[in-house]
Amino acid sequence: MRLRDCCNFHDFRQLAKRRLPGPIFNYIDGAADDETTLRRNTASFDTCDLVPNVLRGVDTVDMSVTVMGQKLAMPVYCSPTALQRLFHHQGERAVAAAAAKHGTMFGVSTLGTVSLDELRKAHSTPQVYQFYFHKDRGLNRAMMQRAKEAGVEVMMLTVDSITGGNRERDLRTGFSIPFKLTLAGMLQFAIKPMWGINYLTHEGFKLPQLDEHVDMGGGAMSISRYFTEMLDPSMNWDDVADMVREWNGQFCLKGVMSVADAKRAAEIGCTGIVLSNHGGRQLDGSRAAFDQLAEIVDAVGDRIDVMMDGGVQRGTHVLKALSLGAKAVGVGRFYLYPLAAAGQAGVEQALGLMRTEIERGMKLMGCSSIDQLSRENLRFR
Ligand code: LAC
Repeated sequence: MRLRDCCNFHDFRQLAKRRLPGPIFNYIDGAADDETTLRRNTASFDTCDLVPNVLRGVDTVDMSVTVMGQKLAMPVYCSPTALQRLFHHQGERAVAAAAAKHGTMFGVSTLGTVSLDELRKAHSTPQVYQFYFHKDRGLNRAMMQRAKEAGVEVMMLTVDSITGGNRERDLRTGFSIPFKLTLAGMLQFAIKPMWGINYLTHEGFKLPQLDEHVDMGGGAMSISRYFTEMLDPSMNWDDVADMVREWNGQFCLKGVMSVADAKRAAEIGCTGIVLSNHGGRQLDGSRAAFDQLAEIVDAVGDRIDVMMDGGVQRGTHVLKALSLGAKAVGVGRFYLYPLAAAGQAGVEQALGLMRTEIERGMKLMGCSSIDQLSRENLRFR
């Protein structure tokens, strides 16, 4: 399969699988424990059906939304994900450029491989900074300060990762930074030499958000060890309230799932929450964001922006989430496979397909703007 033949998520996934060494593909593709939540995330969208209206005059469709104070040309944004230059040498640069081209928001991770400052200067589309709360409070303050100075629009604190998820695929391959592979993992690199040539002939691997503060070179650091050793599991609502005050701007929590927590987030001054189970990569057996969406929107939707991510593969998945009251929907693997498959061209194509699917879906639903989608358009089985 070639890039121009890819017409959906599954095609890009296949192409990424062909291009990437097994340990890297499995890092993206895998999830925690039995991967039950990973599967449920996508399956949750099939628990309800769309009920279209007809004859509404939908020659033009406006699919723009405003979320966290940012106007987006489409209701889908690129969620922050780690280590993107491992997947393709253009990494975050490709994702940011593709998001900008489609007029939507993109996230830069604490574990990003291009600096948030560089990306902020390169594009004017809104940027989210995904923040991990470290034991070192000085590091946290310095990171926030730097993001503020760079002009990052939205702070997104991940709250579901105070310890590492049990990613058994990574345990088997030995995926870590730098690589400390098992023999089986090494063989999987050896059979994908093009990836290796590309990796070695481009700028060396770095984690610029952390480089000045953390020595990641002293030994292999698995994602699980990073979470467990460097992040602060004592983080509590008071710490976050301090951060919200210090940031003094758009601030959302990613990984909120309960009504009680959603209310608390609103009380401490957050302007948004992202319902998320981290793509099924943390607590396996946890509920899908889509399953939990209506309850949370009912509880806090009039006070803060409710977003969601997890399992989104189709424009109709997005329409279902918006009909329940989400303000926007995040995607992760949806753009990572095309990134791995073809860099910026791949991500642009994937976002373009998503845009087309949403536009077509809205027309078939009889909606010419996103605010016309409502629970009237959905029936649960
Ligand atoms: C992951 C982290 C780094 O899911 O977000 O691998």
